[in-house]
Amino acid sequence: MSKDGTVSIPAFIDLAAQRRQMGDRAGKALIAVLESGQYVLGPQVTEIERQLTAFTGAKHCISCANGTDALLLALMAERVGVGDAVFVPAFTFVATAEVVVLQGATPVFVDVRRDTFNMDPESLDAAIGEAKKRGFKPRAIVAVDLFGQPADYARIHEIAAAHDLVVIDDAAQSFGATLDCKKVGTLAAYSATSFYPSKPLGAYGDGGAIFTDDDVKAELLLSLRNHGKGPDQKETEEIGLNSRLDSFQAAVLLEKLKLFPAEIKARQASAERYGVKLRAVAKVPELMAGASSVWAQYTIVTERRDELAKACREAGVPTAVHYAQTLHQLAPYRDYPTAPGGLPQSEWLTDRVISLPMHGYLSEEAQDFVIDTVLDALRSGASSVAAE
Ligand SMILES: Cc1ncc(COP(=O)(O)O)c(C=O)c1O
Repeated sequence: MSKDGTVSIPAFIDLAAQRRQMGDRAGKALIAVLESGQYVLGPQVTEIERQLTAFTGAKHCISCANGTDALLLALMAERVGVGDAVFVPAFTFVATAEVVVLQGATPVFVDVRRDTFNMDPESLDAAIGEAKKRGFKPRAIVAVDLFGQPADYARIHEIAAAHDLVVIDDAAQSFGATLDCKKVGTLAAYSATSFYPSKPLGAYGDGGAIFTDDDVKAELLLSLRNHGKGPDQKETEEIGLNSRLDSFQAAVLLEKLKLFPAEIKARQASAERYGVKLRAVAKVPELMAGASSVWAQYTIVTERRDELAKACREAGVPTAVHYAQTLHQLAPYRDYPTAPGGLPQSEWLTDRVISLPMHGYLSEEAQDFVIDTVLDALRSGASSVAAE
């Protein structure tokens, strides 16, 4: 703490603190890859896939180049294409819908719930009816576990079963979370995650993985991520991608996985403290019964978002807005269908959400400074708690 009582908060997600915790282990692991000469799909890749199946309880882990490809590969494995409708939440990162369009299919935007930020099953049901009316073939649901909390899979699977749809979990933000004691990676037919550096389990570059229990689809995914090559690497059996994980990223992930359980606990403790202290001035995130979050973001909702962002900026507290627009408000996605009645909750959230610093190494002193800054900004003046 400085003399004037301010605390330095170096980053929104402090990756340097994690590096310090790792000491020279990541460096040594990277040098070992350098000296091995096996830079892509080397033994570290096989080992991280093995450890991630053990961590999640999923039968197969197929690593790939990034989280976007993980989603794309799942759609490719399901042969989703032209004329098919894929249901995606409107309040998410753009990659969730991007991959649907890249496959030639049509994204249909579904509204989210204000309390969990995740796909609203009622809006999903209505969107499926709308897609059928418009002549699309409903094929898949991409349920996003936004900010680290699993979506409502019990309801989503019921709806999927009624319409014969495959469920893909966009788990880019939720790797390590649980629902009803089951780990993310086992909540849907496919779970696609990202190892982008700022993700809960992040590498030092791009990386991703798909989890599935289906032996046949797992074989197909192995082929699709590597130019469609067969198991002997000679025949070309599919039109695939170059989406292999490199050994450097796998080596980093192996080191970071050792820290991950303690980091999840620390994130959960920070979220708990934020919740208790900020509840009076803003709408704080809620967990569904039976769910745990890995808190990829700690996102609050307030009527005075822009004022709060300014106060934080002035105090040196980094914040971010995820997301300032719904996907349907982005120019390339404007003309795709939405659930009947539109996306009122998603639009409401885009005007009010703000994310606070969150990572596995947030000290209580730093967090208290963030909390005091938010309290000072929101306690005075007009009511800041977002109306229900
Ligand atoms: C919800 C969601 N889906 C997909 C992705 C894509 O992951 P990547 O950046 O690894 O391609 C991200 C990453 O930001 C994300 O947050």
